[in-house]
Amino acid sequence: MREEQEWSRSEIFDMTLDDKARKLSEEEFIGFQPEHYECGGREQFIYLLRAGLMPDSKVVDIGCGVLRAGYWLIHFLNPGCYFGIEPHEGRLENGKLRILEEEVLAAKVPKFDTNPDFNTSVFGEKFDFFLAYSIWTHAAKWGIEATLDSFVRDAKPGAVFLTTYLPANEEHPDYDGDTWVGSSHESMSVGCIHHSTEWVEEQCAKRELTMERLPPDLTYRMSWLAIRKAEA
Ligand SMILES: C[S@@+](CC[C@H](N)C(=O)[O-])C[C@H]1O[C@@H](n2cnc3c(N)ncnc32)[C@H](O)[C@@H]1O
Repeated sequence: MREEQEWSRSEIFDMTLDDKARKLSEEEFIGFQPEHYECGGREQFIYLLRAGLMPDSKVVDIGCGVLRAGYWLIHFLNPGCYFGIEPHEGRLENGKLRILEEEVLAAKVPKFDTNPDFNTSVFGEKFDFFLAYSIWTHAAKWGIEATLDSFVRDAKPGAVFLTTYLPANEEHPDYDGDTWVGSSHESMSVGCIHHSTEWVEEQCAKRELTMERLPPDLTYRMSWLAIRKAEA
């Protein structure tokens, strides 16, 4: 029997979100410190609300991990409106079965995919919001380009892509490797990378996307961007 099935329902309902994240972290690294589960997810949700999120918005959460933002989004959105991509199958299962409440999973029917190609077309949907939190902080340039190509192809007119990155500077050079840095389905290493703001601007401009800088979050002081398709 898998260990997560040993949790009783009352144990799950009596736990706070951070308790659940702490318990998962005792078994395996969940991608971040467990004390940042509740505050970090709430903050991502607030960025989406500020950008105009509505209950009927269709949202794709790229690299959704253990559903840190997904927890809030799945609760808030109408059934069938949340889509998550996460190639680390164990993290995804923990988010679905050990963090999210069983009833909520059944009622809200979120959809998930484990492709590692940042490919949002797998859902056959058009989205109002793309979210990629702490993904560009680990992804090589080809991965960032793949998320932007997905946005161009699979976002509705007027859609917003909220993403975070760490701007390169003298201390932290622009990353030019071609592999993911940090923990993933393929690696247990930790680490973050920086990308040049000019390069990000060029990638947006090349795809006729506009890029707005938003204030950094309080959880990690990451730089946020709101990327949109240019008005016709
Ligand atoms: C730092 S965590 C952030 C997770 C989540 N966005 C959050 O805020 O908790 C980065 C996540 O990206 C996932 N990841 C790694 N490679 C990926 C890929 N090729 N496509 C999508 N996600 C990937 C990792 O497994 C991990 O769960």
